[in-house]
Amino acid sequence: MSALDRVTNLRKEAQDAVGRADATTELDQLRVRYLGRKAELPNLLRRVVELPPEERAAVGKAANEARQAIAAQIEERAAGLAGKELQARLARDRVDVTLPPDPPPAIGHHHLISQTRREIEDVFVGLGFMVHEGPEVETAYYNFDALNIPVTHPSRLETDTFYVKPAEDIFDPNTVLLRVHTSPMQIRVMEQTPPPIYVIVPGRVYRPDLDATHTPQFHQVEGLAVDTDVTLADLKGTLLRFARAVFGEQREVRLRPSFFPFTEPSVEVDVSCFHCVDGVTASGERCSLCKGTSWLEILGAGMVDPNVFEYVREHGYDPERVQGFAFGMGIERIAMLKYGVPDLRLLYDNDVRFLEQF
Ligand code: PHE
Repeated sequence: MSALDRVTNLRKEAQDAVGRADATTELDQLRVRYLGRKAELPNLLRRVVELPPEERAAVGKAANEARQAIAAQIEERAAGLAGKELQARLARDRVDVTLPPDPPPAIGHHHLISQTRREIEDVFVGLGFMVHEGPEVETAYYNFDALNIPVTHPSRLETDTFYVKPAEDIFDPNTVLLRVHTSPMQIRVMEQTPPPIYVIVPGRVYRPDLDATHTPQFHQVEGLAVDTDVTLADLKGTLLRFARAVFGEQREVRLRPSFFPFTEPSVEVDVSCFHCVDGVTASGERCSLCKGTSWLEILGAGMVDPNVFEYVREHGYDPERVQGFAFGMGIERIAMLKYGVPDLRLLYDNDVRFLEQF
Protein backbone atom coordinates (compact mmCIF):
# COMPACT_ATOMS: atom_id res chain seq x y z
CA MET A 1 0.00 0.00 0.00
CA SER A 2 1.35 3.40 -0.92
CA ALA A 3 2.07 5.90 1.83
CA LEU A 4 -0.65 8.14 0.41
CA ASP A 5 -3.25 5.34 0.56
CA ARG A 6 -2.19 4.61 4.11
CA VAL A 7 -2.79 8.24 5.08
CA THR A 8 -6.20 8.16 3.44
CA ASN A 9 -7.13 4.97 5.27
CA LEU A 10 -5.89 6.27 8.62
CA ARG A 11 -7.89 9.48 8.20
CA LYS A 12 -11.06 7.58 7.39
CA GLU A 13 -10.54 5.10 10.22
CA ALA A 14 -9.92 7.91 12.74
CA GLN A 15 -12.84 10.01 11.58
CA ASP A 16 -15.23 7.05 11.71
CA ALA A 17 -14.06 6.27 15.26
CA VAL A 18 -14.43 9.88 16.40
CA GLY A 19 -17.89 10.03 14.83
CA ARG A 20 -18.95 6.97 16.84
CA ALA A 21 -17.43 8.09 20.14
CA ASP A 22 -20.06 8.94 22.78
CA ALA A 23 -17.94 9.92 25.78
CA THR A 24 -15.21 12.50 26.26
CA THR A 25 -12.99 9.83 27.83
CA GLU A 26 -13.27 7.82 24.61
CA LEU A 27 -12.23 10.90 22.61
CA ASP A 28 -9.18 11.28 24.81
CA GLN A 29 -8.14 7.73 23.93
CA LEU A 30 -8.72 8.34 20.21
CA ARG A 31 -6.63 11.53 20.38
CA VAL A 32 -3.73 9.50 21.77
CA ARG A 33 -4.26 6.65 19.34
CA TYR A 34 -4.31 8.82 16.16
CA LEU A 35 -2.46 12.00 17.05
CA GLY A 36 -0.30 11.02 20.02
CA ARG A 37 3.48 10.93 20.11
CA LYS A 38 3.65 7.23 19.13
CA ALA A 39 0.74 7.30 16.69
CA GLU A 40 1.19 6.24 13.09
CA LEU A 41 0.05 9.42 11.35
CA PRO A 42 2.39 11.89 13.11
CA ASN A 43 5.17 9.34 12.65
CA LEU A 44 4.46 9.16 8.95
CA LEU A 45 4.61 12.94 8.82
CA ARG A 46 7.96 13.06 10.61
CA ARG A 47 9.40 10.53 8.16
CA VAL A 48 8.19 12.13 4.96
CA VAL A 49 11.82 12.99 4.15
CA GLU A 50 12.58 9.31 3.87
CA LEU A 51 10.10 8.90 1.02
CA PRO A 52 11.04 9.08 -2.66
CA PRO A 53 11.17 12.78 -3.65
CA GLU A 54 8.21 12.55 -6.06
CA GLU A 55 5.89 11.27 -3.23
CA ARG A 56 7.00 13.66 -0.47
CA ALA A 57 4.87 16.69 -1.33
CA ALA A 58 1.60 14.80 -1.81
CA VAL A 59 2.03 12.58 1.26
CA GLY A 60 3.14 15.48 3.45
CA LYS A 61 0.16 17.58 2.42
CA ALA A 62 -2.34 14.73 2.86
CA ALA A 63 -0.93 13.73 6.27
CA ASN A 64 -0.97 17.29 7.51
CA GLU A 65 -4.54 17.84 6.37
CA ALA A 66 -5.57 14.51 7.90
CA ARG A 67 -4.03 15.49 11.25
CA GLN A 68 -5.80 18.85 11.28
CA ALA A 69 -9.12 17.39 10.23
CA ILE A 70 -9.00 14.69 12.93
CA ALA A 71 -7.99 17.21 15.61
CA ALA A 72 -10.79 19.59 14.60
CA GLN A 73 -13.35 16.79 14.58
CA ILE A 74 -12.26 15.66 18.05
CA GLU A 75 -12.60 19.23 19.40
CA GLU A 76 -16.05 19.66 17.93
CA ARG A 77 -17.28 16.31 19.16
CA ALA A 78 -15.78 16.93 22.61
CA ALA A 79 -17.60 20.25 22.99
CA GLY A 80 -20.95 18.61 22.24
CA LEU A 81 -20.33 15.62 24.49
CA ALA A 82 -19.06 17.74 27.42
CA GLY A 83 -22.31 19.70 27.41
CA LYS A 84 -24.39 16.54 27.37
CA GLU A 85 -22.33 14.91 30.10
CA LEU A 86 -22.69 18.00 32.31
CA GLN A 87 -26.47 17.95 31.87
CA ALA A 88 -26.56 14.25 32.72
CA ARG A 89 -24.40 14.77 35.81
CA LEU A 90 -26.55 17.68 37.00
CA ALA A 91 -29.68 15.58 36.60
CA ARG A 92 -28.07 12.65 38.43
CA ASP A 93 -26.59 14.76 41.28
CA ARG A 94 -29.76 16.68 42.01
CA VAL A 95 -30.38 17.23 45.74
CA ASP A 96 -33.91 17.65 47.06
CA VAL A 97 -33.47 20.86 49.04
CA THR A 98 -37.05 20.63 50.28
CA LEU A 99 -36.27 17.57 52.39
CA PRO A 100 -36.17 18.51 56.09
CA PRO A 101 -32.75 18.11 57.66
CA ASP A 102 -32.42 15.43 60.30
CA PRO A 103 -32.34 16.39 63.13
CA PRO A 104 -34.30 19.55 62.30
CA PRO A 105 -32.38 22.76 63.08
CA ALA A 106 -33.67 25.25 65.62
CA ILE A 107 -35.73 27.85 63.78
CA GLY A 108 -35.49 31.44 64.97
CA HIS A 109 -38.41 33.73 65.65
CA HIS A 110 -39.23 37.40 65.85
CA HIS A 111 -37.82 39.48 68.67
CA LEU A 112 -40.27 40.09 71.52
CA ILE A 113 -40.64 43.73 70.47
CA SER A 114 -41.52 42.73 66.90
CA GLN A 115 -43.96 40.10 68.17
CA THR A 116 -45.64 42.64 70.42
CA ARG A 117 -45.76 45.26 67.68
CA ARG A 118 -47.45 42.76 65.35
CA GLU A 119 -49.88 41.69 68.04
CA ILE A 120 -50.88 45.32 68.62
CA GLU A 121 -51.18 45.93 64.87
CA ASP A 122 -53.41 42.85 64.51
CA VAL A 123 -55.84 44.10 67.14
CA PHE A 124 -56.24 47.55 65.58
CA VAL A 125 -56.31 46.28 62.00
CA GLY A 126 -59.17 44.06 63.18
CA LEU A 127 -60.96 47.21 64.37
CA GLY A 128 -60.56 48.87 60.96
CA PHE A 129 -57.41 50.94 61.55
CA MET A 130 -54.77 51.38 58.84
CA VAL A 131 -51.08 51.03 59.67
CA HIS A 132 -48.79 53.91 58.65
CA GLU A 133 -45.13 54.61 59.30
CA GLY A 134 -43.29 57.92 59.30
CA PRO A 135 -39.89 59.59 59.59
CA GLU A 136 -37.78 59.18 62.72
CA VAL A 137 -35.84 62.32 61.85
CA GLU A 138 -38.36 65.12 62.24
CA THR A 139 -38.66 68.87 62.40
CA ALA A 140 -39.64 70.74 65.53
CA TYR A 141 -42.77 71.78 63.65
CA TYR A 142 -44.22 68.26 63.51
CA ASN A 143 -42.71 67.03 66.75
CA PHE A 144 -43.79 70.06 68.83
CA ASP A 145 -45.36 73.16 67.25
CA ALA A 146 -48.21 71.59 65.29
CA LEU A 147 -49.01 69.45 68.32
CA ASN A 148 -49.76 72.57 70.33
CA ILE A 149 -46.63 72.12 72.43
CA PRO A 150 -45.54 75.60 73.54
CA VAL A 151 -41.95 76.82 73.13
CA THR A 152 -41.71 76.90 76.91
CA HIS A 153 -42.35 73.15 77.26
CA PRO A 154 -39.41 71.47 79.06
CA SER A 155 -39.35 68.47 76.71
CA ARG A 156 -37.90 70.78 74.03
CA LEU A 157 -34.68 71.22 75.97
CA GLU A 158 -31.56 69.37 74.87
CA THR A 159 -31.77 67.29 78.05
CA ASP A 160 -35.01 65.72 76.73
CA THR A 161 -34.66 65.79 72.94
CA PHE A 162 -31.87 64.69 70.58
CA TYR A 163 -31.18 67.50 68.13
CA VAL A 164 -29.57 66.34 64.90
CA LYS A 165 -27.30 69.35 64.40
CA PRO A 166 -26.09 71.56 67.21
CA ALA A 167 -29.28 73.56 67.13
CA GLU A 168 -28.71 77.27 66.73
CA ASP A 169 -32.30 77.88 67.65
CA ILE A 170 -34.16 74.89 69.07
CA PHE A 171 -37.36 76.91 68.93
CA ASP A 172 -37.15 77.32 65.15
CA PRO A 173 -39.91 75.10 63.68
CA ASN A 174 -37.42 73.91 61.01
CA THR A 175 -34.95 72.62 63.57
CA VAL A 176 -34.17 68.96 62.84
CA LEU A 177 -34.41 66.40 65.66
CA LEU A 178 -35.08 62.74 66.41
CA ARG A 179 -38.78 62.43 67.15
CA VAL A 180 -39.52 61.97 70.85
CA HIS A 181 -42.89 60.33 70.14
CA THR A 182 -44.92 59.03 67.21
CA SER A 183 -47.42 61.89 67.59
CA PRO A 184 -45.89 63.99 64.74
CA MET A 185 -47.47 61.41 62.44
CA GLN A 186 -50.89 62.65 63.58
CA ILE A 187 -50.17 65.87 61.70
CA ARG A 188 -48.52 64.21 58.70
CA VAL A 189 -51.39 61.74 58.25
CA MET A 190 -54.00 64.50 58.48
CA GLU A 191 -52.07 66.59 55.94
CA GLN A 192 -52.18 63.66 53.54
CA THR A 193 -55.68 62.26 54.09
CA PRO A 194 -59.01 63.97 54.66
CA PRO A 195 -61.31 62.64 57.41
CA PRO A 196 -62.58 60.12 58.35
CA ILE A 197 -59.28 58.49 59.33
CA TYR A 198 -58.49 55.56 61.57
CA VAL A 199 -54.74 54.92 61.70
CA ILE A 200 -52.09 53.51 63.95
CA VAL A 201 -48.42 54.39 63.62
CA PRO A 202 -45.83 52.01 65.04
CA GLY A 203 -42.21 53.13 65.08
CA ARG A 204 -39.00 54.08 66.83
CA VAL A 205 -38.70 57.14 69.02
CA TYR A 206 -35.74 58.69 70.84
CA ARG A 207 -35.10 60.33 74.20
CA PRO A 208 -31.86 60.92 76.17
CA ASP A 209 -32.68 58.50 79.02
CA LEU A 210 -31.10 55.28 80.25
CA ASP A 211 -32.17 53.15 83.20
CA ALA A 212 -34.16 49.98 83.95
CA THR A 213 -37.30 51.39 82.33
CA HIS A 214 -35.82 53.81 79.74
CA THR A 215 -33.54 53.34 76.73
CA PRO A 216 -32.48 56.17 74.37
CA GLN A 217 -34.33 54.44 71.56
CA PHE A 218 -37.65 52.71 72.08
CA HIS A 219 -40.89 51.99 70.25
CA GLN A 220 -44.36 53.47 70.34
CA VAL A 221 -47.67 52.88 68.62
CA GLU A 222 -49.68 56.01 67.97
CA GLY A 223 -53.40 55.82 67.35
CA LEU A 224 -55.56 58.46 65.70
CA ALA A 225 -59.25 58.34 64.84
CA VAL A 226 -60.99 61.39 63.36
CA ASP A 227 -64.58 61.40 62.22
CA THR A 228 -67.73 63.48 62.60
CA ASP A 229 -69.05 61.87 65.78
CA VAL A 230 -66.13 60.47 67.74
CA THR A 231 -66.39 60.64 71.53
CA LEU A 232 -64.38 59.73 74.60
CA ALA A 233 -66.62 56.64 74.87
CA ASP A 234 -65.27 55.45 71.50
CA LEU A 235 -61.75 55.89 72.82
CA LYS A 236 -62.57 53.88 75.92
CA GLY A 237 -64.31 51.13 73.97
CA THR A 238 -61.44 50.87 71.50
CA LEU A 239 -58.85 50.63 74.26
CA LEU A 240 -60.96 48.12 76.19
CA ARG A 241 -60.98 45.85 73.13
CA PHE A 242 -57.22 46.32 72.84
CA ALA A 243 -56.59 45.60 76.53
CA ARG A 244 -58.71 42.44 76.46
CA ALA A 245 -57.08 41.16 73.27
CA VAL A 246 -53.57 41.61 74.66
CA PHE A 247 -54.01 41.01 78.42
CA GLY A 248 -57.01 38.68 78.59
CA GLU A 249 -60.77 38.85 78.17
CA GLN A 250 -61.37 39.47 81.89
CA ARG A 251 -59.64 42.88 81.79
CA GLU A 252 -61.24 46.24 82.50
CA VAL A 253 -59.84 49.66 81.68
CA ARG A 254 -60.12 52.91 83.54
CA LEU A 255 -59.34 56.47 82.47
CA ARG A 256 -57.65 58.91 84.82
CA PRO A 257 -57.50 62.65 84.11
CA SER A 258 -54.12 63.76 82.81
CA PHE A 259 -52.58 66.36 80.55
CA PHE A 260 -51.04 66.42 77.08
CA PRO A 261 -50.78 69.64 75.04
CA PHE A 262 -52.31 67.94 71.97
CA THR A 263 -55.35 66.34 73.60
CA GLU A 264 -58.20 67.86 75.59
CA PRO A 265 -59.36 66.25 77.76
CA SER A 266 -56.33 64.03 78.29
CA VAL A 267 -56.27 60.72 80.13
CA GLU A 268 -53.91 58.06 81.40
CA VAL A 269 -55.31 54.62 80.67
CA ASP A 270 -54.94 51.78 83.17
CA VAL A 271 -55.73 48.11 82.63
CA SER A 272 -56.81 45.92 85.52
CA CYS A 273 -53.92 43.79 86.76
CA PHE A 274 -53.87 40.24 85.35
CA HIS A 275 -51.47 39.02 88.02
CA CYS A 276 -53.65 39.41 91.12
CA VAL A 277 -57.11 40.06 92.53
CA ASP A 278 -57.48 43.44 94.24
CA GLY A 279 -53.72 43.73 94.57
CA VAL A 280 -53.26 40.34 96.28
CA THR A 281 -51.72 37.36 94.47
CA ALA A 282 -53.02 33.77 94.64
CA SER A 283 -50.37 33.01 97.29
CA GLY A 284 -51.66 35.86 99.47
CA GLU A 285 -48.86 38.34 98.84
CA ARG A 286 -49.01 41.94 97.75
CA CYS A 287 -48.87 41.90 93.92
CA SER A 288 -45.42 42.98 92.69
CA LEU A 289 -46.63 43.80 89.16
CA CYS A 290 -49.24 46.43 90.10
CA LYS A 291 -47.65 47.22 93.49
CA GLY A 292 -50.90 46.21 95.16
CA THR A 293 -52.95 48.84 93.31
CA SER A 294 -54.65 46.28 91.00
CA TRP A 295 -54.19 48.68 88.03
CA LEU A 296 -51.41 48.89 85.44
CA GLU A 297 -50.81 52.09 83.51
CA ILE A 298 -50.55 51.25 79.81
CA LEU A 299 -50.79 54.47 77.79
CA GLY A 300 -51.65 58.14 77.39
CA ALA A 301 -54.60 59.31 75.33
CA GLY A 302 -57.28 61.93 74.87
CA MET A 303 -59.54 63.79 72.49
CA VAL A 304 -57.63 65.66 69.77
CA ASP A 305 -57.26 69.28 70.88
CA PRO A 306 -59.06 71.72 68.52
CA ASN A 307 -55.82 73.72 68.41
CA VAL A 308 -54.18 70.76 66.67
CA PHE A 309 -56.93 70.68 64.03
CA GLU A 310 -56.19 74.36 63.33
CA TYR A 311 -52.82 73.29 61.89
CA VAL A 312 -54.55 71.02 59.36
CA ARG A 313 -57.83 72.89 58.94
CA GLU A 314 -57.12 73.53 55.23
CA HIS A 315 -56.84 69.73 54.71
CA GLY A 316 -60.47 69.18 55.73
CA TYR A 317 -60.19 69.28 59.51
CA ASP A 318 -62.61 71.96 60.68
CA PRO A 319 -62.70 71.58 64.49
CA GLU A 320 -66.38 72.61 64.44
CA ARG A 321 -67.17 69.63 62.25
CA VAL A 322 -64.78 66.80 63.22
CA GLN A 323 -63.63 65.29 66.49
CA GLY A 324 -61.02 62.69 67.17
CA PHE A 325 -59.24 60.65 69.73
CA ALA A 326 -55.55 59.86 69.92
CA PHE A 327 -53.44 57.56 72.03
CA GLY A 328 -49.80 56.61 72.32
CA MET A 329 -48.34 53.52 73.94
CA GLY A 330 -44.83 52.18 74.46
CA ILE A 331 -44.37 48.77 72.85
CA GLU A 332 -41.64 47.81 75.33
CA ARG A 333 -43.92 48.69 78.23
CA ILE A 334 -46.71 46.48 76.88
CA ALA A 335 -44.25 43.60 76.36
CA MET A 336 -42.67 44.03 79.80
CA LEU A 337 -46.03 44.03 81.55
CA LYS A 338 -47.36 41.08 79.60
CA TYR A 339 -44.27 38.88 79.98
CA GLY A 340 -42.97 40.13 83.33
CA VAL A 341 -39.68 41.46 81.94
CA PRO A 342 -37.94 43.16 84.89
CA ASP A 343 -35.44 45.34 83.00
CA LEU A 344 -36.01 47.05 79.66
CA ARG A 345 -32.34 46.72 78.75
CA LEU A 346 -32.73 42.91 78.52
CA LEU A 347 -34.69 43.52 75.32
CA TYR A 348 -31.61 45.07 73.69
CA ASP A 349 -28.78 42.90 75.06
CA ASN A 350 -29.23 40.28 72.31
CA ASP A 351 -28.71 37.42 74.77
CA VAL A 352 -30.38 34.37 73.20
CA ARG A 353 -30.94 32.80 76.62
CA PHE A 354 -33.33 35.67 77.24
CA LEU A 355 -34.75 36.00 73.72
CA GLU A 356 -35.44 32.27 73.36
CA GLN A 357 -38.01 32.41 76.14
CA PHE A 358 -40.57 34.19 74.00
N1 PHE B 1 -47.17 61.27 72.68
C1 PHE B 1 -47.47 60.96 74.06
C2 PHE B 1 -46.21 60.46 74.76
O1 PHE B 1 -45.25 60.13 74.09
C3 PHE B 1 -48.55 59.91 74.17
C4 PHE B 1 -49.88 60.36 73.66
C5 PHE B 1 -50.21 60.14 72.33
C6 PHE B 1 -50.78 60.99 74.49
C7 PHE B 1 -51.44 60.56 71.86
C8 PHE B 1 -52.01 61.39 74.03
C9 PHE B 1 -52.33 61.18 72.72
O2 PHE B 1 -46.15 60.38 75.97
